[in-house]
Order: sequence, then C-alpha cells, then structure tokens
Amino acid sequence: MIRRFFLPAGLVLLALCGVWAGLSAYWLNPRSALVPNTPQRPRIVGTAACQDCHQSMADRYETSGHAHTFSLTIRSDIARQLAGDTFEDPQRKQTFRYHFDAEGLSASLPDVFGEERFPLTYALGSGTHAVTFLTLLPRRDGATVGLEHRVSYYHDLHGLGLTVGHPFVKDPVEDSEQFGKIVNERQLAQCIDCHTTQARIEHHELIDVIPHVGCESCHGPGSVHVAAQQAGRTDTSFQVTDHWPTALDELKTCGKCHRMPESLKASELVRTSPVLPRFQPAGMMQSRCYTESEGALRCTTCHDPHAKVSSDRQHYEQICANCHRQQSVAACPQGTESCITCHMPAIRFEGVASFHDHWIRVRTADDPAAVSMEEAVATE
Ligand code: HEC
Ligand code: HEC
Ligand code: HEC
Ligand code: HEC
Ligand code: HEC
Ligand code: HEC
Ligand code: HEC
Repeated sequence: MIRRFFLPAGLVLLALCGVWAGLSAYWLNPRSALVPNTPQRPRIVGTAACQDCHQSMADRYETSGHAHTFSLTIRSDIARQLAGDTFEDPQRKQTFRYHFDAEGLSASLPDVFGEERFPLTYALGSGTHAVTFLTLLPRRDGATVGLEHRVSYYHDLHGLGLTVGHPFVKDPVEDSEQFGKIVNERQLAQCIDCHTTQARIEHHELIDVIPHVGCESCHGPGSVHVAAQQAGRTDTSFQVTDHWPTALDELKTCGKCHRMPESLKASELVRTSPVLPRFQPAGMMQSRCYTESEGALRCTTCHDPHAKVSSDRQHYEQICANCHRQQSVAACPQGTESCITCHMPAIRFEGVASFHDHWIRVRTADDPAAVSMEEAVATE
C-alpha cells in the first residue's frame, strides 16, 4: 500500500471520536432496554444457512451471476489472471501495471509512482459482462469513500478497458485519483448494497460481509424461517406467493437493483435512450406487453432468478407465443420465430458490453441500433 494514500494520524483520532460518540449514544438510548420484549425481527443469516435444506436450489444458484457479484480480489480468478499485465491509458498516456500477491490485486503506475502499488481490494461483477475493482479509502474528514479503479475487465473486449463513466481528469488533486474515480459515501453505500447481501463500513473497512446477491437479497432476512424449520414447525412466512402476490411486487424486488422507472431521469425513459436497455425493469414497464397484460408479465415469466441467464432463444419465443398466439393478443404479421432478434435485440452499451432491450416493441429507425448477429457471435 502506498503511504501517501493514508491520512495523517490526527484524523484517525477524529474518526475514533466519532465512533465513541456513536457508541455512547447507543448506550444512552433508553429504547434499547425495550428490545427484548418486542417480537424478534428476522435477521440475515447468509446463503450458506439455506444450503442444508435447499441443496439443489443452492447448487443451481451457484452457477448464476447473482452468486458472483462481489469478491475479494484475492479470491477472483479474473484478478489473478491479470498478474503481470499492463494497460496503456489512452487518455492520460500512462501505463498501469498489475500485480497479484497474498493481499490480492494491486496496480502500479511506474512512470508516476515507481514501484509503489495501489491495492485493488474488491472485484465487482461476475465477468459475464465486466469486473470493476473497488478499494475503500479514508477521506481527509474521516469519512470512508470508495475508489473505483480506472480500468475494468470486459468480457466482450477479452481484456481491459477504461471503466465506463470515468471522466478524463488532467491533473487529479489526490494521488489516489491517478488510480480511479472517488465514489462518495452515499454512492459507496449503494454500490455495496446492490452487490452484497449484507455489509457494514467500519474504520474504512467492510465488516460482517455476506457477499453477492444472496438468497436473502430477494427473499428477505431468513432467521425466523430457519429457526422454525429447524424446530420442525411449519413456516409460511417465506411463501413466495405471499412475498410477491403481484407482478409489481416482484418487479420492485428486482428493480431495487436493476432499477425501477422512478430512479431514472425522464430523458432516460424514452425510446431513443442509450442507457435504458441496461435497466430491465424500467424498460419492461414501458412495454405494452406489460402495461396491457393485466399483471401477467413479470421477470420470472422468462427468467429463473436462481440460475445463469438462459440464452436458449426457443425458451423465450415459446413464452412470447403463449400470449401472442395462444391468446387473443395480436400476432406478428412478420415472423413466426426469432421474436427476440426483432423485438428485444441486444443493444451495445458504451462500446464495451451489450444488454437486451426489455422494452419489447416494434422498433423504428431512431431506436438504438441493435448489435448485429455477426458482432454478437464474435463476442460470445
Ligand atoms: C441486490 C441486488 C439485486 C437484486 C435484488 C436482483 N438482482 Fe439481478 N443482478 C444483480 C447484479 C449485481 C447482477 C450482475 C451479476 C454479474 O455481474 O454477472 C445481476 C444479474 C442478473 C441477471 C443476469 C444473470 C446471469 O447469470 O447472467 C439476471 C437475469 C437477473 N439479475 C435477474 C434478476 C431478477 C429476475 C431479479 C428479481 C427476482 C433480480 N435479478 C434481483 C443484482 C440484483
Ligand atoms: C442500484 C443498484 C446498483 C448499484 C448502486 C451499483 N450496481 Fe453494479 N450492478 C447492478 C446490477 C443490477 C447489475 C447487473 C446489470 C445487468 O447485467 O443487467 C450490475 C452490474 C455490475 C457490473 C458488471 C457489469 C454489468 O454491467 O453487468 C459491475 C462491474 C458493477 N455492477 C460494478 C459496480 C460498482 C463498482 C458500483 C459502485 C461504485 C456499482 N456497480 C453500483 C446494480 C448496482
Ligand atoms: C434474485 C432474486 C432471488 C435470489 C437471489 C434467490 N431467489 Fe429464490 N425465488 C425468487 C423468486 C422471484 C421466486 C419465485 C418465482 C420462482 O419460483 O422463480 C423464488 C422462489 C424460490 C423458492 C420456491 C420455488 C421453488 O422452485 O422451490 C425457493 C425454495 C427459493 N426461491 C429458495 C431460494 C434459495 C435457497 C436461494 C439462495 C440459494 C434463493 N432462493 C435465491 C428470487 C430469488
Ligand atoms: C432446516 C431446513 C431449512 C432451512 C435451513 C431453510 N429452509 Fe426454506 N424451507 C424449508 C422447508 C421444509 C420449506 C417448505 C417446503 C418447501 O417449499 O420446500 C421451505 C420453504 C421455503 C420457501 C418457500 C417456498 C414456496 O414454495 O413458497 C422459501 C422461499 C425458502 N424456504 C427459502 C429459504 C431461504 C432463503 C433459506 C436461508 C435463509 C432457507 N429457506 C432455509 C426448509 C428450510
Ligand atoms: C403476458 C403476455 C405477453 C407476453 C409473454 C408477451 N407479450 Fe407482447 N404484448 C402483449 C400485449 C397484451 C400487447 C399489447 C396488445 C396487443 O398488441 O394485442 C403486446 C404487444 C406486443 C408488441 C407490440 C408493441 C408495440 O408497442 O410496438 C410486440 C412487438 C410484442 N408484444 C412482442 C412480444 C415478444 C417478442 C414477446 C416475447 C419476448 C412478447 N411480446 C411477450 C402481451 C404479451
Ligand atoms: C419476455 C421475456 C423476458 C422477460 C419478461 C424478462 N426478460 Fe430479461 N432477458 C430476456 C432475454 C431474451 C434476454 C437475453 C438472453 C440472452 O442472453 O440470450 C434477457 C436478458 C436479461 C439479463 C442479462 C443482461 C441483458 O440485458 O442482456 C438481465 C439482467 C435480465 N434479462 C433481467 C430481467 C429483469 C430484471 C426482468 C424483469 C424486469 C426481465 N429480465 C424480464 C427476456 C426476458
Ligand atoms: C424479421 C423481424 C421480425 C420477427 C422475427 C418478428 N417480428 Fe413481430 N413485427 C415485426 C415488424 C416489423 C412489425 C411491425 C408490423 C409490420 O410492419 O408488419 C411487427 C409487429 C409485431 C406485433 C404487433 C402487431 C400488431 O398488429 O400490433 C406483435 C405483437 C409482434 N410483432 C410479435 C412478434 C412475435 C411474438 C414474434 C415471434 C414469434 C415476432 N413478432 C417476430 C418484425 C418481426
């Protein structure tokens, strides 16, 4: 770790005072005395606790992207494979060099800092599309911020590229900014929220981490269910039909991370938007398949949230046909198959990944251009 990325000691003291203030507030809080009398609120117990009884589900889940959204780089195969690689920053005209040791991945900028290495602690994303590296850092005021590394691994590029959304800063103020973009406290909390089942930031570190999008990210905290099942009591609190009675209930669970329309700007919720294809719930909710099917369409109509996303076109087209041929819904004057290619094609995102446009519709000339078949095959 490079020394200059740490804070002066005086500020560490300040941070400790903050913790002390927090602790005394907790001890002085009279409400804490009441807690034992209130009914036990379910706690998160972790995906491993579900395995014993739902083994086959857990095995299937292990193959999904959800099971690989957040790792220490020390445990990431993609990070390990970067050892010895270099990447030439096309904007800043300097070269990153990657190292892998017992601490995990780190990067150096030999032209700027010589041998010094900047740690890259966490790997976000499974690599199906991309992996971005994240490090927690103390800010001068004691707060914990994130540093999103300037370079990411992209599956479609078969290697490294500039991280999407990183502006070109000619002369960064902080040395650490040579290695990436500072993610403020709020953004860091959200980033960790969407990519882990549970984690807390303390002393510029993550503790109580339950990595990845686990069972309880969707089903909710499981302690009560587990205790009941272990004691041999029937437990209906986890019935999926009660948890997601309507399509909208389910969409809100997925949309918490995959984004609901509310979290996008009006200018992003239009047919021509280049970013909307990345946000499947927000996109799908614009489609007449959703708005005119009276709650019959939800994410799990097409996807098993416990498995790797299927690329079997016939599986999806059968589902289109269930509504569009078997029922009194309009049929296509154009095609009897390949529905996906024409009505929900893959759209290129920032040149480094592609996402299927879930706003199912008849496409027009000003809609974002679809990835061509040749291009799609080339990147598989
Ligand atoms: C806590 C956040 C979170 C929630 C809730 C969530 N997802 Fe995801 N989902 C992710 C992340 C992060 C990824 C990226 C995984 C990767 O890097 O491959 C992902 C990936 C996916 C993929 C691609 C998976 C693959 O194997 O390629 C599908 C499909 C998906 N999610 C569907 C859903 C559905 C359906 C729901 C709701 C039932 C849902 N997700 C709820 C965060 C979430
Ligand atoms: C609101 C929830 C949310 C936040 C905040 C968030 N992500 Fe994600 N992230 C997702 C979801 C959902 C996906 C899956 C996208 C897909 O495959 O459609 C994803 C995918 C990814 C991927 C894989 C590439 C891809 O697009 O599939 C990387 C890398 C990633 N996120 C990094 C980050 C980093 C780093 C941060 C914070 C600095 C962050 N994310 C913040 C929800 C979130
Ligand atoms: C991304 C969200 C998500 C994650 C992660 C997830 N589930 Fe589910 N699960 C759902 C949804 C939505 C349903 C209802 C629709 C369905 O069955 O596909 C469901 C259904 C179920 C069911 C009842 C249906 C059946 O096929 O038996 C069980 C049991 C279950 N999940 C257990 C688990 C376990 C155990 C894990 C972790 C290994 C897990 N789930 C992870 C969203 C999720
Ligand atoms: C001690 C065994 C046991 C453990 C541990 C356990 N479950 Fe269950 N679970 C069951 C049994 C038994 C049922 C009811 C029968 C069934 O659907 O398989 C059930 C039902 C469910 C359902 C409802 C399925 C439906 O049809 O609606 C979900 C969802 C679920 N479990 C998820 C989880 C998750 C998530 C965890 C981990 C936090 C977990 N379970 C831990 C035994 C267990
Ligand atoms: C749950 C039922 C349902 C499913 C599943 C479904 N649709 Fe639809 N779709 C509808 C309804 C309802 C409409 C609007 C009324 C109509 O056209 O009769 C519609 C409209 C459409 C339209 C015209 C929309 C426009 O604004 O241009 C297209 C194209 C379409 N669907 C294609 C598909 C494709 C492709 C699939 C599979 C990927 C699919 N649909 C899956 C119910 C469904
Ligand atoms: C009518 C069928 C259908 C429905 C409903 C549907 N999807 Fe998809 N989804 C697809 C198809 C087709 C693909 C492309 C699969 C492939 O890679 O070939 C896909 C791919 C994805 C991916 C991988 C990244 C991408 O965009 O290519 C994610 C994540 C995803 N869907 C999430 C969701 C979520 C969240 C919902 C609910 C809002 C949802 N999907 C509803 C058909 C559907
Ligand atoms: C070769 C591209 C292509 C394929 C493949 C295709 N469509 Fe279409 N579809 C179109 C076009 C273009 C239109 C607009 C109507 C027209 O110009 O004839 C359309 C119109 C529709 C409509 C609206 C009809 C109306 O009267 O409002 C629906 C619904 C539809 N398609 C569903 C499907 C389904 C379901 C499949 C798969 C079984 C499918 N399409 C396959 C190109 C295609």
